[in-house]
Order: sequence, then C-alpha cells, then structure tokens
Amino acid sequence: CKIRHYNFTVILKNITRLCATKPIVTVNGQLPGPTLYAREDDNILVRVTNHVQYNVTIHWHGVRQLRTGWSDGPAYITQCPIQPGQNFLYNFTLTGQRGTLLWHAHISWLRTTMYGAIVILPRKGVPYPFPKPDKEKIIILGEWWKADTEAVVNQAMQTGLPPNISDAHTINGHSGPVPNCSSEGAYTLHVENGKTYLLRVINAAVNDELFFKIAGHNLTVVEVDAAYTKPFKTNALFLGPGQTTTALLTADQGIGKYLIAVSPFMDTIVAVDKLTGIGFLRYNHTLAFAPTTLTIIPPLNATSVTSVFSESLRSLNSKEYPANVPLTVDHSLVFTIGVGINPCATCFNGSRAVAAINNVSFDMPTTALLQAHYYGISGIFTDDFPAKPLIPFNYTGTPPSNLQTMNGTRVYRLAYNSTVQLVIQGNSILAPESHPTHQHGFNFFAVGRGLGNFDPGKDPQKFNLVDPVERNTVSVPTAGWTAIRFRADNPGVWFFHCHLEVHTTWGLKMAFLVDNGKDPNESILPPPSDLPQC
Ligand code: C2O
Repeated sequence: CKIRHYNFTVILKNITRLCATKPIVTVNGQLPGPTLYAREDDNILVRVTNHVQYNVTIHWHGVRQLRTGWSDGPAYITQCPIQPGQNFLYNFTLTGQRGTLLWHAHISWLRTTMYGAIVILPRKGVPYPFPKPDKEKIIILGEWWKADTEAVVNQAMQTGLPPNISDAHTINGHSGPVPNCSSEGAYTLHVENGKTYLLRVINAAVNDELFFKIAGHNLTVVEVDAAYTKPFKTNALFLGPGQTTTALLTADQGIGKYLIAVSPFMDTIVAVDKLTGIGFLRYNHTLAFAPTTLTIIPPLNATSVTSVFSESLRSLNSKEYPANVPLTVDHSLVFTIGVGINPCATCFNGSRAVAAINNVSFDMPTTALLQAHYYGISGIFTDDFPAKPLIPFNYTGTPPSNLQTMNGTRVYRLAYNSTVQLVIQGNSILAPESHPTHQHGFNFFAVGRGLGNFDPGKDPQKFNLVDPVERNTVSVPTAGWTAIRFRADNPGVWFFHCHLEVHTTWGLKMAFLVDNGKDPNESILPPPSDLPQC
C-alpha cells in the first residue's frame, strides 16, 4: 500500500454558468474539485488550506474512517472548522472498500460548490468481479444556484420558509445548453462503438434525489457506495444525494448522439423542482449536426421506479466479498424522520419549518462532539437520544394535531461491537417525502423497506439477511420505511442525517456515540496535533 498526498486549497473562483458569472468557493479553483485516486489499503493525506472568509471542513463521504473519526469532517461533530488562514491535515486509510465515493464540504451549504470524486481501485493485481471495461469515466451530478448559496440558506433560516430551489442540475459542473448564451457547453461523453465504459456516477446534488438516464442504452449496475453488487441491468439509475452507482455501459449503437438526462425525483408539495439536467453521449465519427436521440424521463413522482431500482440492489455476496450481515440485534431502534412546524416569533407567519428524528430537532453544538467525548467535556451533549419515537401515531396517514418538535443535542450511545437494527420511518407530518439518509463511520445493510407504517410483528420476517445491499446512504421511501443493520465496530462519534441539505439545516440529524472496546486497537486513535479548535 501507498501513501498518497493531496493539497486542497480552498479559494474563491469566478465561474460562469447560466450566462452569469459569480465567485464560488472551490477546492483548487476547480468545479467539480480534484479526484482522489487510490487503491484499497492506501493511506490518504490531504492538506486542506483555507484561503476564503468562510469556515470550512471536508467530509470523505462513505470512507469508513476506522478509528480515525478526527478526519471524518462534519463541522461541530468530529472537528471544529478550519478557520480562514488555517490548515488541517486529514489522515485516513481506505480499508475494506472498493469503488466510487465522493468528498464534499461539510459545513453550512458550502458543498454546493465544494465536491469531488473518490475512486478506490482494488489492490494491485486484484481484478474487478465484473468484465474489465475499456475505459472509466466519472460523472458527478450537482446543482447550481444563480444566487449566492450562503445567502439562500441564511435567508431561509431567518424567514422560516423553505430555501429557493436550484436553477440547474449539472453534470461534471456543466449546466447544459442555455438558449441565447454561447459561452458554455453541455457535458459530452465521447464513446467509440464496441467499447465498454465503467461509469462512476455520483450524486453530489444538495436537495434532489435524481434519475440518470442515457437514451438508447442500458446500464449494468456493479457497485454502489464502494461495495460490489450483483450485476443488474436497468435503463435508469436512481441516486439520492451522497449515493454513488458504478455501472457498465456498452457502446453498441454504432454512431449518433444520445441524450443524457438528469431529472429529479420530487414528491414534496413544498418546492417543486422540475428542471432536467442535460448532457450528451456522442459516438466518434458522428456528424456535428446529427439529431439527438431522446429518451422518456421518469415522472417527477415515480415512486415505483425508485422502488424497483432499490429492490434490485443486492450485495455481491461472493466468496471473496461476503455480506457480513449481523444476524443478532443488541439495539433495536425505531427513528421517525420528517419535517414539522415550530412557532417562531421573528419568522414570516410566526412559524418555521423544523425537521426532527424521534421528535428531537438537533441543535448544533459550539464545540465538536468528538472532542467533548474524548476529553470528557460536560455540558455539550446528552446521551439520552430516544430509541423510539416520543409521540407514536399513524405516521403515514392523517397528520397529528401536534406538529411541534423539541430541540436538543442528544446522542445515542452504543457499546463497541454491539449490533444495531434501525427502522427509519418517514413521519409524513407536513407531507410524505423521500429521505436519503446517511450514516457516517459505517456501512450498513439495507435489510428491508416498505410503504406505509412499519409493522414490528410482520415486516421483520421478510428481512433479507442473506445478500442485502451494503451502503452508507439509503433512500427512505415516500410515506414508508427502511430497515438497516450494522455492527458498531468503529469507536467515535458518527453523524446520522438526511442528506437533503435543507432537511439537515432544519435539524434532521443526530449522532451515534460508539465507546472504545477493551483492546487498545479497539479505541479511537489520539487526535492529530493540528486539530482545529473552536
Ligand atoms: Cu455526505 Cu454528513 O454527509
């Protein structure tokens, strides 16, 4: 294994999209930012130097961070922010994962422009468990706002209203064709007939789950969230923010130009975002004026398409890559997630949107939880996060009369190596919505999902404990539930939240605290000497 050094310099850069130029916060002036390339077992060292007037942190989304929680990145959870003029060395090793992940800023809404790919190749000499592609391509989906996104989120927090939706869905930073504006292009995937391509597709969008489709071509999914899957063929990918899907594409249409469509899956009544991001797949030797072959875009509320896609995902579960699903459960938890309304004297209409887990809306602490835990600083958090919802009701039916939630900085405590079964139930208080829910520090197995209310008597009998998909972010279906299992084998403090940034901002977040084990190598490593202070 190798040590790989990267320098991430955070600078403002003027970028033109949708016919307007604005300064954005970037890593190394790039959009998307630089790709981290590594092999399994490599040690990654990233020096992040902050040259902007905002506090920054970077999260290596999906990297297990075994015993290295200090390098995980969520601001005020595992570290204090890197302040203007300061730097911090993220130091971690890639263990037991291969495939595609992403990195992104993890403070306020800076991840709208600070994101990039992580590619983890197998160890030297170890082949992929699928046919070797001729070429590999990274495709990162994102969102673009014409306005300054820090102003967008600040205004939403002041008024209590939902933030403005984005103005474009982007592919590798490109907004697609803009009428009457010649200054920018669309993303184009150039292919040669007869060749196969491994597409590493990443959803780095902020508030949208997305469908990804290429006209005239099927895709064979082989890996999600850096865990291999049983191959399956589909004409559309479905990815929540933070999710990655690696798929094989065979260029077998000879010649021509084909539409690549990135369209939202959006079932909320609050903000309807109908924009489709556009790119092109173009065969070599295709004439410049050749017409584009189009495709049918899944409807905005295509819950059935998302269900079929999610249920088709299975762990590869081969001899080399077994699915180690926990078969016993030490902690059986039920978390209800969703958005409600709290009174707010200073807000527009006297109320504000809040989001909560088990009726607790998370208050960000002013010092990092991991530091408070490690040094035994009291008064920062409590470890009484409820294992069950505080107000039980029919979650997917009539909304309850009490839409309010309480606030708190609570964590749920887990013994080292204990096993967890967590049922995540959408509470539909304001509206039925889908939530891509992300767990830091662990991969989990998505053992079951369903629409309606989770039935603790019947549903567990249908759980897949053989080859459930292994991932770090799972979509909790609209007006439904998802069940996950994981083993708490990573000591530290691990953020758990909806990866729709608007919901995170409103409080749909909490953290698991995993205590050290008895053995010294079951303990979190000491903090790096340059760890930022609050
Ligand atoms: Cu990709 Cu806590 O996030």
